[in-house]
Amino acid sequence: MGSKGIGLAIPVVGVSLFLMLVFFFLYNLLPSVCYITMSQQKKQQQQIQYTAQSYSEDPIGPPSEDDIKWAKSQLEKNRLGEGKGWHQLRKGINPRTREEQLQDLRKYKGISHYDDNNHTAMVCPGELLVEEHHSNYGEPWAGGRDVYEFLGRAARLRRDQRVLEVGCGTLRVALHFIRYLNPGNFHCLERDELSLMAAFRYELPSQGLLHKRPLIVRSEDMDLSRLGREGEDYVQYDLIYASAVFLHVPDALVWVGLERLAPRLAPIHGRLFVSHNIKFCTRLHGEECSKRLSKVGLEYVGKHTHDSFLFNHYEIWFEFCRSKS
Ligand SMILES: C[S@@+](CC[C@H](N)C(=O)[O-])C[C@H]1O[C@@H](n2cnc3c(N)ncnc32)[C@H](O)[C@@H]1O
Repeated sequence: MGSKGIGLAIPVVGVSLFLMLVFFFLYNLLPSVCYITMSQQKKQQQQIQYTAQSYSEDPIGPPSEDDIKWAKSQLEKNRLGEGKGWHQLRKGINPRTREEQLQDLRKYKGISHYDDNNHTAMVCPGELLVEEHHSNYGEPWAGGRDVYEFLGRAARLRRDQRVLEVGCGTLRVALHFIRYLNPGNFHCLERDELSLMAAFRYELPSQGLLHKRPLIVRSEDMDLSRLGREGEDYVQYDLIYASAVFLHVPDALVWVGLERLAPRLAPIHGRLFVSHNIKFCTRLHGEECSKRLSKVGLEYVGKHTHDSFLFNHYEIWFEFCRSKS
């Protein structure tokens, strides 16, 4: 290179160094680490538009005002529930409580006219057939839809994205995600045998969702190693959530879980949602909570509440994203 070349190179290097310094300075000034660059913002906007389109085809919810008006008008047109005591109208040809129905199933070994047992592809225990497990965790089964609608919209979830639930129980919430997502895109860790039986023997087959091939793994120690591998790498999730789980788990195990979950969150847009409270963190005093979060690779984004559609209840959610490393 001649002396002219060197003369040109020095200012170019100088300007580049200056720009790098400015970028580094601004990067560190950013208040949130879940920030997005301009090109990422553009990409996300495209994704949002895409999502808005798919909502109109098959909305995640909640129902629109028009939907509610329509449902109410149908009740009115058919004069339903006007008189008090409509529930006493429950006559039917063979009204049964769950318990009585279970007794019948046991007594008659099912309710068919076959005299042997060879006609059922996947024999399901009577306790599951009468849906006892819908009341396992106290809350109305319908609340699963509320959680799905809140999380699905908060994460702007698309069908081709991946979701992990920690503690999916009897699939009260999960069924909705499994139905919405592409096959194989819903994963879960669950420790309870009865819940897993209910999931595999009753909920997935009865809802016609076996073809969605959810990956539901039995584990009680936050072992993520059996969850989805893609080539050499573990898959990353666009949404991870724990609905009514972490408040029942010892703090130490929650932190082990968070440390393993953080690298499984998709960078930037990936979100972790935890319901009810985050006492595992707030019990640490002072700045310790955010320090510990950043140590495991997470940042707190904010708190949300959302109302139930069918019963008088609201749920609290805490949102986290991956911290910049
Ligand atoms: C209150 S239930 C909630 C179930 C479901 N998330 C829902 O909203 O319907 C809590 C669930 O967390 C599961 N669970 C608790 N500790 C767990 C752990 N260490 N690993 C996996 N699942 C766990 C329980 O077995 C139970 O199914």
